[in-house]
Amino acid sequence: MENLKQEVLSCTKCDLHKTRHHVIFGEGNIKAPILVIGEAPGHDEDMIGRPFVGKSGQLLDKIHAACGFTREQHVYISNIVKCRPPGNRVPTDEETRTCVPYLFKQIELIDPLILMPLGASALRVFFGKEYRITQVRGNWLNWYNRLVMPVYHPAALLRNPHLKRDTWEDYKKIVRKYRELIDAEHHSDYV
Ligand code: URA
Ligand code: URA
Repeated sequence: MENLKQEVLSCTKCDLHKTRHHVIFGEGNIKAPILVIGEAPGHDEDMIGRPFVGKSGQLLDKIHAACGFTREQHVYISNIVKCRPPGNRVPTDEETRTCVPYLFKQIELIDPLILMPLGASALRVFFGKEYRITQVRGNWLNWYNRLVMPVYHPAALLRNPHLKRDTWEDYKKIVRKYRELIDAEHHSDYV
């Protein structure tokens, strides 16, 4: 993982390297059973050098806390694109194609039981354009023998707070699966 990190930190394969302040490799337990996959770093992440530290990240941490999940123990957090697209635009297909092999390498190394793509861009990397986040979120899917639980991106929850109710049902499924497969004693104040 350290070798991969050094490679990614010095990557110049696409133009995003010209405007970035930091490469956001990912963070969390490198043996975590859950891999959370966002889209791309935003302004705050680019400035600070860590994933999900802005408004979306604060909401993500709040939801994780309600599940009893921490970055230290239960999850690893990464993105499909490791450098900030200027103005927080959606990464292009070309940028995604160039960067996503790094994510696949992270999946191999972490070997998580559960993948959690946040939103449409991350979902598409695994299942193509035919899968709609609005249709498949909250459903257990399978990707090369790993469980996948697609959920809305926290930025979508901030834009549309009414999506939070369904999303919380999705996260409860993850907590229950975590108890079933990983730790029957796992504690959450809310599930
Ligand atoms: N949004 C993302 O998709 N990833 C981050 O790291 C931060 C915000
Ligand atoms: N509890 C809820 O009801 N919703 C969340 O998103 C997190 C905790």
